[in-house]
Amino acid sequence: METKWIKMLEEEPDLEAIKEAGRIIKNGGLVAFPTETVYGLGGDGLNKEASRKIYAAKGRPSDNPLIIHIADLADLEKLVKEIPPKAKKLADAFWPGPLTMIFEKSEQVPFETTGGLATVAVRYPNHPVALVFIKESGGFVAAPSANTSGRPSPTLGTHVYEDLKGRIEMLLDSGEVGIGIESTIVDMTVEPPMILRPGFITEEMLKEVLGHIDVDKTTKERLEGVAPKAPGMKYRHYAPKGELTIISGKSEHVREAINKLLIEAKEKGLRTGVIGTEENIEAYEAHVKMNAGKKQDELTVARRLYSMLREFDEEKVDVIYSEAFSENGMGQAVMNRLLKAAGHKVIQV
Ligand code: TXA
Ligand code: MG
Repeated sequence: METKWIKMLEEEPDLEAIKEAGRIIKNGGLVAFPTETVYGLGGDGLNKEASRKIYAAKGRPSDNPLIIHIADLADLEKLVKEIPPKAKKLADAFWPGPLTMIFEKSEQVPFETTGGLATVAVRYPNHPVALVFIKESGGFVAAPSANTSGRPSPTLGTHVYEDLKGRIEMLLDSGEVGIGIESTIVDMTVEPPMILRPGFITEEMLKEVLGHIDVDKTTKERLEGVAPKAPGMKYRHYAPKGELTIISGKSEHVREAINKLLIEAKEKGLRTGVIGTEENIEAYEAHVKMNAGKKQDELTVARRLYSMLREFDEEKVDVIYSEAFSENGMGQAVMNRLLKAAGHKVIQV
């Protein structure tokens, strides 16, 4: 199939194109669309055939559930058995926005969409194109990130096109997304609610609204024999093709250690890459250098992370060394994704 690639500005959604996209979804087809976090690969969340197509297009294991995206809080009721009072509070505080909540699913939601689970993940995103698109699609768009399984999530329309051209009917492209890593996922079916995947909405922000909240420990470290509660988090996601190692410690020690490793790798004839902060990047001896932004600016690091990882693939880099970043605020989410991309290889200096 040919993929129609439609470009528009985020602040000026192309209504004609989005209406056509909505018709595609209502007919059981697939459309990729921007959200404030990453691009999504959308299909009708209440249509089991559409969900099957999403798994096929992405090459994703079908036990890994999808998130249903809504564009009106009232539509949540149709998807879930009940709305716990705490979920109502979080919705009031953070929706529309980069927060996904897990509920007991209603009968209407097919098991194909939830990967066989009795629970469903729901998100009300905050992006002008996404909101019009979801409404035009009938209100319930199931969408994983629009990458092929195993690759970094797409933060640009071109990333989506690279991965999915010929596998989806249409791509709505409004340029670079604002946040750059996926939404925070909170399981509302347990007491206290539990963070399954860190994101822009941080533990501190959630605590301010709920008082107490648990965090799935596997989001911070790899635990032998303990599977993450969000099925998707068990896969080695977000991975560049080159071997990535994180170097953690005092800034000047990190700089020295990375340069030593880079020189050793070059002596072996390997093509090298580095992810460094603006303060250090000039000093590195790598073939390909990626500037992740200022050390204390975790928002910029988040926005650039997946793009940098893809760039290394394009540059055919064999080994990559990355500085560790601050774990303040969204830094926790950044380090969670970076650790997964590195298969948890960290050198402490
Ligand atoms: O920001 C985002 O959330 C993006 C945009 C497109 O909205 N979507 C996204 O979807 O990241 P995906 O499919 O790449 O990641 C969804 C994660 C997976 O780890 C999946 O296992 C988990 O959510 N998940 C979905 N439904 C779940 C459920 N019922 N219980 C536990 N985890 C669930
Ligand atoms: Mg994903």
